[in-house]
Amino acid sequence: MKLERLLAKYQLMGRTRARECILAGRVKIADHSTTAFDHEVDHFTRVTLDNQIVQPAARRLRIMLHKPIGVISATKDKKHRTVIDLIDDPDKGSLHLVGRLDINTSGLVLLTNDGRWSKALMHPDHKVPKVYHVTTAEPIPSDAPAQFNAGFFLKTEEITTLPAALEILTTTTARVTLHEGRYRQVRRMFHRVGCKVIALHRESIGEYKLQGNLKVGEWCQFKPETALHKRLPRKAKWVENS
Ligand code: URA
Repeated sequence: MKLERLLAKYQLMGRTRARECILAGRVKIADHSTTAFDHEVDHFTRVTLDNQIVQPAARRLRIMLHKPIGVISATKDKKHRTVIDLIDDPDKGSLHLVGRLDINTSGLVLLTNDGRWSKALMHPDHKVPKVYHVTTAEPIPSDAPAQFNAGFFLKTEEITTLPAALEILTTTTARVTLHEGRYRQVRRMFHRVGCKVIALHRESIGEYKLQGNLKVGEWCQFKPETALHKRLPRKAKWVENS
């Protein structure tokens, strides 16, 4: 939201009065005076008026977790352990998931309390690549890469999957890169080439790779390298399919 709106909201004053306070140089953002009344702020921005706190800066959390099999990608569940149960942080209640993995899939899960960042990462227009290591029960047919590239029609969603890159590593292992996140998509695509997936592990989401020293069930905080969210208009609509 704009600075003048935040000030008006928290100081219980009109927008005109808020703007006057800002133009008079009485407002600081992260300890720097500003007269930019239309400056974009969010709940991670520390704002003061006459050196009194209007809004303290919330902690921005970005977490990478190595999800074990058997744990579900949800914030609450009555039956199963959730990814949130594995995190030990006083602000973990503010976290949401950046995409999901099914219960039998291990690997990288991202969590954050920064909605702009997660929306940008998951926005379908950005087609952020997600890389999975797959083990199958049956040998992977040699024409599977061509089939993955051509896409599969999914009856339930009435869509054809986007071209996916399939690299066959051994007779029964492969690496697949998707640019979307349909429900159990990797398993369904392998089923279409006659293979049952017996192990599925997510290695990366865009530039974020599961760190090698992160053991199953462990998590760490990190800072993103690229400000992907800067490419997304503030009011963009998006739909998550996974
Ligand atoms: N595809 C699947 O089948 N399962 C996942 O968890 C992610 C992608």
